[in-house]
Amino acid sequence: MKDTMEEFLRFSPGPPEDVRVFFAPGRINLIGEHTDYNGGYVLPGAIEYGTWCCLRPRADRVWRFASSTSPQVITVTPRGMAYQPDYGFANYPLGVVWALTEQGIDISGADLYFSGNLPQGAGLSSSASLELAAAMALTAAVGVDLGLAGLASIAHRAENQFVGVPCGIMDQYAVALGQKDHVLSLSAATLDYQAVAVPLGTVRLVITNTNKPHHLVHSPYRDRLEECRTALALLRQGGVSISDLAALEPGFWDDVSGLIKDPVLKRRCRHVVLENDRARKSPDLLRRGDFQQFGILMRASHESLRDDYEVTGIELDTLAEAAWQVDGCLGSRMTGAGFGGATVSLVDEAALPDFEAHVGQTYQRRFGRDPSFLVTRLEAGVHEV
Ligand code: GLA
Repeated sequence: MKDTMEEFLRFSPGPPEDVRVFFAPGRINLIGEHTDYNGGYVLPGAIEYGTWCCLRPRADRVWRFASSTSPQVITVTPRGMAYQPDYGFANYPLGVVWALTEQGIDISGADLYFSGNLPQGAGLSSSASLELAAAMALTAAVGVDLGLAGLASIAHRAENQFVGVPCGIMDQYAVALGQKDHVLSLSAATLDYQAVAVPLGTVRLVITNTNKPHHLVHSPYRDRLEECRTALALLRQGGVSISDLAALEPGFWDDVSGLIKDPVLKRRCRHVVLENDRARKSPDLLRRGDFQQFGILMRASHESLRDDYEVTGIELDTLAEAAWQVDGCLGSRMTGAGFGGATVSLVDEAALPDFEAHVGQTYQRRFGRDPSFLVTRLEAGVHEV
């Protein structure tokens, strides 16, 4: 943090007391994957890794963006407020400036500097983390309080409409509303949420990164979104009156699945229906600390993402399958969009060395490179430091 402040003052010289610092975490999702854009349940939590944003207000309407990972300083005026591939990371905070302006919020110019410790492209929501840090900083600078859910929806709008990634709402909600030692049970259809206490005890949350970056803009994420839209339209044409695929209960899905002839679309729907059912059942298991049962659901979730939804890929499958073999690993599955990225595992503290050794060696033997491990905690969402 001290380094970040020093770097900021080199980028934006002036009185240190005018500088405000914010932190937005990344997130893991415990279960409920590819359900959010189908109106389903998700169960994400904020983690201790994330993004710091230092802000100094400016009197002109100019936004300057810099980061510890890029030598570039991006300077934008209101006339230049459009997505530019060359802007790199700055497109995310600039998207937030745009979304706030579109919402009629008059924000002032600012110097913004970002640094962080969240692996990029690991499926841990580094983009939502950047957006939320910027959203809280920019609104705080002009004394506007949108509430955490309000900040999440600004960040979501920036990502969908400015950056052009058609993601669901999960990441922005998790990063905004995360709570220490809790996950968020969120219905993407109604945006109702509950914080669910997770009594981890001696169980540790382990993120294993494939070190194979994923890119939502270029990934089959859009294809899945389209497939789900097509399946929903077919069900509706067949007389099923639902607003989203996740509104189908498993029993009802069995009754109406004949309306979808295409075997691929059928598998996509089956994943959404059963994954949503798992996500709905999970909060009770977690509250009770029943990680054994929850671990069974995690495995079923991964298998469904592998076989029915086809978003895991060989690297994530290798990590999850190796994790399932370790005594003391209670559950493991891919987390986030998939197509690379990371798994999340629940591992007994005493089994951590075996876990890292077995999963690490299995992965190394197969791909000739190491995965990386992060043992993490559930932490608070975006806040001022
Ligand atoms: C990405 C998206 C989320 C969600 C997940 C898959 O993280 O940003 O909205 O769709 O993928 O569950």
